[in-house]
Amino acid sequence: MKPIKRLRKPLAALAVVAAIIIAAGCSPQGEEPKTAEGPDPAEQTAAADPASDWSLATDCTTCHSTEAATTTEASLGAGAHATAAGTDCATCHSDEAALATVHQGADATGAMPQKLRKTSVEAQTCQAAGCHDLSTEEMLALTADVTDLTDSKGTTVNPHEVMGLTPGHGDIACSDCHGMHRETAAADTCVGCHHAGVYECNTCH
Ligand code: HEC
Ligand code: HEC
Ligand code: HEC
Ligand code: HEC
Ligand code: HEC
Repeated sequence: MKPIKRLRKPLAALAVVAAIIIAAGCSPQGEEPKTAEGPDPAEQTAAADPASDWSLATDCTTCHSTEAATTTEASLGAGAHATAAGTDCATCHSDEAALATVHQGADATGAMPQKLRKTSVEAQTCQAAGCHDLSTEEMLALTADVTDLTDSKGTTVNPHEVMGLTPGHGDIACSDCHGMHRETAAADTCVGCHHAGVYECNTCH
């Protein structure tokens, strides 16, 4: 996670962001999985895990029908990304080695996961080239007017500033606020720690 810096050129940044949003589609890695560069994916999988024939090229939908259904749900992140950026499962779930381990021995009859436990979708995946590859300033400008994070004392925090506020906030992931297969509310991310409804500590105990 890059440290959040002060917003220096808000207007310029806004213009850049607007241009990016209008002009650029996401060109996800998933579109052209594993080109000529590097070893043959089949060989790679075999070398890493001889017991499994799972790869990112496997049809995910046969087992993960719940998540697959969300990709046609316009109100959910997975649906919005499929429409606006042509994402497929592997665009976001791109850590093939970790996922291959997760899928060792997995079959369609097992209980399907309700949340990510062994892998994650990192900020760098969201901010890959052609996707949300925005500078810190541009990220802050995107949500400069967003008031979703307002506490009971009326203190409003820019959501894209939160991750850089203090070291402990660095663990907050894009997907904590931007769920892809489920509805999320940014403010729910805060309540586990800011249990008294105010964005401060050390004032009461
Ligand atoms: C044969 C059925 C099957 C197929 C096909 C399949 N999965 Fe899975 N997947 C599972 C099962 C079962 C689990 C739970 C494994 C466990 O946690 O022990 C799982 C777990 C996962 C997880 C959760 C990882 C975590 O962090 O806990 C992700 C993400 C995932 N699969 C993505 C994919 C993607 C992407 C594809 C297609 C490229 C795919 N799966 C294809 C059965 C399948
Ligand atoms: C603390 C919560 C929070 C975190 C963490 C967060 N965001 Fe946001 N983000 C928001 C809110 C709230 C909005 C404005 C409402 C909306 O669009 O969902 C927003 C808006 C956006 C938008 C504009 C969406 C649109 O439709 O115009 C993008 C793109 C975005 N965020 C990407 C990211 C990325 C990439 C990360 C991780 C690096 C991230 N966000 C982390 C809360 C968060
Ligand atoms: C735009 C990015 C994106 C795409 C596309 C995407 N996912 Fe996910 N996936 C996530 C994120 C982020 C999470 C963490 C939970 C959440 O945000 O909903 C997740 C969670 C999961 C989980 C864990 C269980 C759960 O529902 O939380 C599975 C399994 C999974 N995804 C499978 C898939 C499959 C299969 C596809 C393709 C049909 C897919 N994902 C497409 C980003 C994505
Ligand atoms: C993992 C626990 C945790 C989460 C989650 C968390 N915070 Fe905090 N937050 C803290 C702690 C601890 C402090 C006090 C930090 C310090 O004094 O160094 C703090 C301080 C703050 C401050 C004051 C920062 C400063 O410079 O004095 C603000 C504002 C804040 N949090 C907002 C938020 C918002 C908004 C969210 C939700 C998007 C959030 N926090 C989520 C633990 C958390
Ligand atoms: C508005 C006042 C207030 C603020 C601000 C506040 N707390 Fe609390 N906190 C309380 C009260 C009241 C209790 C329960 C009584 C007690 O045990 O002190 C409590 C209890 C706790 C406990 C359990 C303590 C125990 O011994 O069981 C933890 C941990 C805690 N708070 C952490 C935090 C953190 C971290 C923050 C900032 C993110 C925070 N609190 C902000 C009022 C507050």
